[in-house]
Amino acid sequence: MKINLANIKKAKKLLYKRECIAIPTETVYGLAGNAYSDQACQKIYKLKKRPKNNPLIVHYLNIQRLKKDCHLNNDFIKLYKKFCPGPLTFILNLKKSSKISKIITNKKNTLAVRFPRHSVTRRLLKILEFPLAAPSANPSSRVSAVTSNHVKEDFGKKIKYVLEGGRSSIGVESTIVDLREKPKILRLGGLNVSTIQKILGKKITINNKPSKIVSPGQLKVHYSPGLPIRLNAKNIRKDEAYLLIRKKKVSKPNYYFLSQQGNLKEAAKNLYSTLRKIKKKKYSSIAVCKIPDRGYGKTINDRLLRASRFNEKTT
Ligand code: TXA
Ligand code: MG
Repeated sequence: MKINLANIKKAKKLLYKRECIAIPTETVYGLAGNAYSDQACQKIYKLKKRPKNNPLIVHYLNIQRLKKDCHLNNDFIKLYKKFCPGPLTFILNLKKSSKISKIITNKKNTLAVRFPRHSVTRRLLKILEFPLAAPSANPSSRVSAVTSNHVKEDFGKKIKYVLEGGRSSIGVESTIVDLREKPKILRLGGLNVSTIQKILGKKITINNKPSKIVSPGQLKVHYSPGLPIRLNAKNIRKDEAYLLIRKKKVSKPNYYFLSQQGNLKEAAKNLYSTLRKIKKKKYSSIAVCKIPDRGYGKTINDRLLRASRFNEKTT
């Protein structure tokens, strides 16, 4: 993407004033502020209406900068070398000397860190003297934003600036891996678990497998388009949108497909923008076809399962 230096300068100026702005990343857009400033971090929580006990991911340019704030370990180095910058977030132990705002960490001694690959945001990080705290740029519990317009639709004038970066190339949030002890996946996302496992050379446990959830209370409602969702649906009502992985030969106006050929990576990329499109059309609900539970299909199923919990709250 061509970099517009005037935009980067504007973003920098606002961030130095402890303002909160939106930044593009290859996964989803983020709501960013100076991670060393309590004031900036408070603004992020307020704007997003995020519960105070939900910590924020901090975005760094590279490992050299991260060293000031976190203890590194061998598993981290292996994964960093292979996948960073990229769609992977690490949970690490914070250093006592770290300047990271206590607002972000909720007074715990761990930190979620990520190295975004998007060229615009890397250019911005390069000229800042602080890392950026940035949760996904959407109101808490709703669908993430993959274009600058989505952010503007969600926040309007409440947000000071949206740094343009085009459409997010991956389209779903980063995979989160806790590396403090035995590697554990805390969130499925833009990097497949099997790929991570191969590089670490050891088995990783997944902490959020839908089949392993024993109580519905363990599932947080999240990623909701604001409409009820029916999973593995077969009979589609006329007033429902039908979400499909692959384009059907015979289509109807209420059919929305995520990929031409059934490619799961492409489907994940199109998931949030399609949910947003459907929401605008005033359907009563969304019926979703059965989605293969492999590769990026696992991430899509994870998101839709959480989004479907919205039903129970609202209907
Ligand atoms: O792709 C992404 O990760 C995007 C882009 C903007 O980087 N960010 C993102 O942030 O998805 P957010 O805040 O929407 O999701 C971060 C998740 C939250 O569920 C939060 O609870 C978890 O990471 N998290 C943050 N800090 C943590 C920590 N220290 N330990 C465990 N989980 C943590
Ligand atoms: Mg989020």
